[in-house]
Amino acid sequence: FQPKLLAGKRLLITAGPTFEPIDPVRGITNRSSGKMGFAIARAAAEAGAQVTLVAGPVHLNTPRGVQRIDVQTAQQMHDAVLPRAAAHELFIATAAVADWRPAELSEHKIKKNGSKLAPTFELTENPDILAAVARLPAGQRPFCVGFAAESQDLVKHAREKLVRKNVELVVGNLGPATFGRDDNTLVLVDAQGQRELATADKLSLARELVREIAARLGTKTH
Ligand code: C5P
Repeated sequence: FQPKLLAGKRLLITAGPTFEPIDPVRGITNRSSGKMGFAIARAAAEAGAQVTLVAGPVHLNTPRGVQRIDVQTAQQMHDAVLPRAAAHELFIATAAVADWRPAELSEHKIKKNGSKLAPTFELTENPDILAAVARLPAGQRPFCVGFAAESQDLVKHAREKLVRKNVELVVGNLGPATFGRDDNTLVLVDAQGQRELATADKLSLARELVREIAARLGTKTH
């Protein structure tokens, strides 16, 4: 009998894009499909973890056995994650959170006014959910895994993120080329070094990633 790799562990995971409304019919979003995060949620549940998935607006079915919380905005994602984080041993941030949101939400649809002047929008910064979880005090702080989607210098940026966000592991992928696709190539960057997971479908990669994370959780010292 081999115990499941994540038996007894609780995973909190974010996935998908966020949607930042401008007015009742428009908003700012991005091309994240949520597939990688949903695949990890599924692989972790298969490995015996109790999984809570906080999802932005995506068109994906909830993996079997996974508890799902749907949100729209980065602020809502932050507010769903932060109070729950301390009750989890593991936090994985796969969501493509919008860095900025419109400073003001227009109550009514913004209309063309005939003056030919296009409207301008002021943006304000969204909270960094991963960094906020990683700042929780010891004892409340889960093992933190971040993602880095970069179009160049992947390992360099991933390593920067590891330090700046103070997380145990950063998983780099060559997004946005990967957005919406079924396969992906990952590079795992941590304090020990780096390791590439060869191109494969997202579910196979998710299962491999779960094995890598389970091994690190087992040797966790804080
Ligand atoms: O800062 P950057 O967006 O490049 O970092 C990506 C990582 O940080 C991902 O794991 C993403 O889910 C997380 N993130 C977050 N909240 C934000 C921005 C990014 O959790 N506001």
